[in-house]
Amino acid sequence: MDLPVRIIVLPTAAETAQIGAALVAAVVDRNSRAVLSFATGSSPEPLYAALREHADQGLDFSEVTGFALDEYIGLDPTHPESYHSVLARDVVRPLALDPARMNVPDGLGDPDTAGPAYDRAIAASGGVALQILGVGANGHLGFNEPGSSFASRTREVTLTARTRDDNRRFFGGELATVPGSAMTQGIGTILEARSLLVVANGAHKAEAIGAALEGPLSSSCPTSAVQLHPSVTVLLDADAAAGLTRRDYYAEANAAWLERVRAWPAVLALQS
Ligand code: GLP
Repeated sequence: MDLPVRIIVLPTAAETAQIGAALVAAVVDRNSRAVLSFATGSSPEPLYAALREHADQGLDFSEVTGFALDEYIGLDPTHPESYHSVLARDVVRPLALDPARMNVPDGLGDPDTAGPAYDRAIAASGGVALQILGVGANGHLGFNEPGSSFASRTREVTLTARTRDDNRRFFGGELATVPGSAMTQGIGTILEARSLLVVANGAHKAEAIGAALEGPLSSSCPTSAVQLHPSVTVLLDADAAAGLTRRDYYAEANAAWLERVRAWPAVLALQS
């Protein structure tokens, strides 16, 4: 019997990256034309680096379709910190995805048309098989800030001061250069993916993770919406999991599953 939300706590961020990469690789191994949705931020970076090992072993990403989870408004796609650029750097080039198959919300167009157009593009692709997600220190999901409706669609959001401050490290520490708004897949959009993979590392995520996974459903913690999804895996390092009260139970319930996943990379290597 599976848990509604599979919570996996591992000692280090490096181990969460290995398990996360194995899960993504398994989806692509089953379907070379899989549709994946990609978060940016520091949380999934080690996972994408670990995925490179699967590509190096022969896993073919060239027919994968990608959707970015979000994009800043007002940044040219060629700006090094646009999510267009970040995904080109972290995902498209290292995994040899077809750049034409990587979709990113239009952060320069009219948000009123760009949001619905993005949702239509996701639907036209057949829908997202696996949505890779990080978690904001304030509980945000994508750029769905606290107060976002669980039914929200891809749209423009105003970033909170906390989020802009958290992200200024990507902009040379200059708060003034961090965009004030973004296009993000809505929570309703995210929940339509067939499976969700959430990655969080570090003590600064512990409070948000505790609220999201063991707190009540609340738009005050947008990530709590993952409790509504039937297929969610959450990969946490020990520091990010520190606020969870049922860690022993999660470890016991998921031990056999974790063993199976640990064997998957070897299985994939044999098949390539
Ligand atoms: C960013 C992104 C999110 C990301 C989150 C956490 O601003 N828009 O998609 O998941 O905030 O970021 P990080 O992983 O760098 O802590």
